[in-house]
Amino acid sequence: MELKKNVYSAGAIDWDRRLFDELIPLPDGTSYNAYLIKGSEKTVLLDTVDPTKTEVLVDHLARLGVDKLDYIVSHHAEQDHSGSIPDVLLLYPDAKVVTNPKCKNMLIDLLQVDEDRFITVADGERLSLGDKTLQFIYTPWVHWPETMSTWLLEDKILFTCDFFGSHLASSSLFVTDEGQAYEAAKRYYAEIMMPFRKPITNNLAKIADLAIDIIATSHGPIYDRPEFIIDAYKDWAGDEVKNEVVVAYVSMHDSTRRMVEHFVEALSERNIVVRQFNLPNVDIGKLAIALVDAATVVIGSPTVLVGAHPAAAYAAILTNALRPKARFAGIIGSYGWGGKMPDQLTGMLSNLKVELLDPVVVKGLPKDEDYIALEDLADKILTKHKEAGIVD
Ligand code: FEO
Repeated sequence: MELKKNVYSAGAIDWDRRLFDELIPLPDGTSYNAYLIKGSEKTVLLDTVDPTKTEVLVDHLARLGVDKLDYIVSHHAEQDHSGSIPDVLLLYPDAKVVTNPKCKNMLIDLLQVDEDRFITVADGERLSLGDKTLQFIYTPWVHWPETMSTWLLEDKILFTCDFFGSHLASSSLFVTDEGQAYEAAKRYYAEIMMPFRKPITNNLAKIADLAIDIIATSHGPIYDRPEFIIDAYKDWAGDEVKNEVVVAYVSMHDSTRRMVEHFVEALSERNIVVRQFNLPNVDIGKLAIALVDAATVVIGSPTVLVGAHPAAAYAAILTNALRPKARFAGIIGSYGWGGKMPDQLTGMLSNLKVELLDPVVVKGLPKDEDYIALEDLADKILTKHKEAGIVD
């Protein structure tokens, strides 16, 4: 499909993939977008595809009549975009990989691409294709340190690779349903971009003065209304949190479940939005989305072999890795005869810049005074949200 004159989509849609990094659920599949630009003098391929889809890319290049390829621009060394580079280099022996020095070294390490196949470019450097000009803009930490974008000056297309992307297989080149695209892009942001809010904010400032017509990502449908996704990123990566509490819990014999139900109702009665997740059956993408905006995170766990339930530990480790902008965190749960569950879980949240609230931990089934303690915790959270200016 043609984005603009002589600018083509050449990548692959992966309708059936359901897991990325053996971790991230892909309920809507994904795509590995690559782009071919035919300049009057030079032809360039922007990124390749996941190695499982090399044949699709090669077929597309043949159908686009690419007899000679001058450059492969590599925005990001991760294999879902770089994995076909070795095959494309074999197919086009004169082609050079254009990338930054950091990405070059990673491509040598990850794919064993020969050093003499590279041309390295500096931040802001331009490359002429004849009637079209590429400008390379370093956009690091979205989500690896070497990532960059390409600005196609004449056509006002910004190619951003993972940045602004979404795991969403679609037969449409452009976003047609912004509600669906918003959810998919937020999921993607939450799963891999969220730890890098500061560099993302810097990158947003770096592209702010470009008069962009199209943002062409390397995952998901692309944007012909760039402000839609740029504004969403400003919101997600900004410092503002919402009057929301994420409650992620696991229960074995109902004590923790009873506590969670009472606590969630208490929060709701105080007009706090709650997102409740039962961890053994959780879609971690949905949990990650909820963590983007929440002011407070509460983990609920029983005590297993003197420590946290492994499902609760998994949620704590995941939350710690994703580094959401939450301001407050708490632990609730239960035990039979002892243990260090709360300390263990809070120890797993060390990356978060949160104020830890006093845990509510009960022996056996919760009693009247335990339910009151949970209501006190809900009051405390409301007070904290008010003091932080999150709610009036
Ligand atoms: Fe889509 Fe970080 O690769």
